[in-house]
Amino acid sequence: MFILALPKGRLAEESIELLTKKGWLHSKPSENSKELKFIDKLAKLEILLVRSQDVPIYVEQCAADVGIVGLDVLLEGEHDLVLPVDLKIGACRLSLAAKPNFELKNYKRKVKVATKYPKLAKEFFFSKGMSCEVIKLYGSIELAPLCGLSDCIVDLVETGETLRANGLVEIEVILHSTARLILNRSSLYQKRNTLGPFIEDIRQL
Ligand code: PRP
Repeated sequence: MFILALPKGRLAEESIELLTKKGWLHSKPSENSKELKFIDKLAKLEILLVRSQDVPIYVEQCAADVGIVGLDVLLEGEHDLVLPVDLKIGACRLSLAAKPNFELKNYKRKVKVATKYPKLAKEFFFSKGMSCEVIKLYGSIELAPLCGLSDCIVDLVETGETLRANGLVEIEVILHSTARLILNRSSLYQKRNTLGPFIEDIRQL
């Protein structure tokens, strides 16, 4: 038996599809269930559904042996994890976005940026020789420029639907992200007989 931490939401659905396709999952958590722990007895796999930012913490702390999480989350945090495998699912991008009249070059002063990604946002502006004031938010980031809370946002874009619906435009792509398989160091050693074949199977070549 090994434990897999999945981020709730879209990536969980794609991950479950991949695990099922590769024969590592034989049943699914029921659609409307509020249960956060799911055991597939046949596959001897336990799934934990957690917030995406928490996946690396569960794996690092050995509450889960493996996890699936976006590269964006891994780069925003600092975790001691075994080198991740690119699963080539959950493709999205971390982008700078704002109202259509926004022009980065007009900002001599600090740019106010709302984001769930303070580290990556600061690195982006510093790489352009600019400073920024980060407004750290936890969701509905697109609302911030509409209310005058920020000049722009750094946020994930997948279909672009949320930006369009809120009258924002994508100004620049900062990072292309896909989901990674991450592993706890001691689990990889202790459960190598199960995790070895799992990694080989789930790796999308
Ligand atoms: C994410 C992201 C954007 C949206 C982008 O939010 O922060 O808001 O998805 O997706 P799209 O380009 O397909 O519209 P999420 O749905 O995770 O909710 P949140 O705003 O509460 O974080």
